[in-house]
Amino acid sequence: MDVLDAGAGTGYYLKEILDLTMPASHDALALDISRYAMRRAAKLPNTVALVWDVWRKLPTADASRDIVLNCFAPHNPSEFHRVLRPSGACIVVTGEPNHLNEVIEPLGMLSVAEGKLAALQEKFASEELMHSETEYLSYQMELGSEDLYNLAFMGPAGHHLSPETLRGKVQSLGQQLVTASFGVHVFIPKR
Ligand SMILES: C[S@@+](CC[C@H](N)C(=O)[O-])C[C@H]1O[C@@H](n2cnc3c(N)ncnc32)[C@H](O)[C@@H]1O
Repeated sequence: MDVLDAGAGTGYYLKEILDLTMPASHDALALDISRYAMRRAAKLPNTVALVWDVWRKLPTADASRDIVLNCFAPHNPSEFHRVLRPSGACIVVTGEPNHLNEVIEPLGMLSVAEGKLAALQEKFASEELMHSETEYLSYQMELGSEDLYNLAFMGPAGHHLSPETLRGKVQSLGQQLVTASFGVHVFIPKR
């Protein structure tokens, strides 16, 4: 099982896939623009982690991957298609409109646009991939001020607000029950 994680971050979800597919032999490639993230991902077993812009040509051969994972990260459908084996699958995870609903406005975060699946399908379908299935997941998380700070700081709010302003907003919110809501979309090569 050969996996590529495009926009892997620290490789948290890649590790879950590797754990699930072990002991089948695998070769994992983690790509991310952040060198700090790649330093963490490089510690995963059998994984090559490269600092790489996923908008560029991906550093792997045509039809060399069984799974392309693309979780809350930029999409490059034509490259995902090029590197997938004919029997492979591209798993794209995106937030749903009510994702993090309770804290979007108070923390100055960006909400997820409606019609995400339709937009994704249009984007991927034109690239010789077709939508196979989608599973929606939703649950509540109890987040304290440190989690809320990190959550807001890693997104656009972290660029628009000073750390002090963000800390103040988080402190005034206190402990929060926050909705996590996302879609796991599977695309496969057209036969
Ligand atoms: C929300 S994080 C998701 C990380 C990981 N997939 C996860 O779900 O834990 C988005 C990731 O995309 C990466 N990223 C953003 N633009 C990128 C680009 N052009 N090329 C590669 N990685 C990119 C960021 O550095 C970040 O690690």
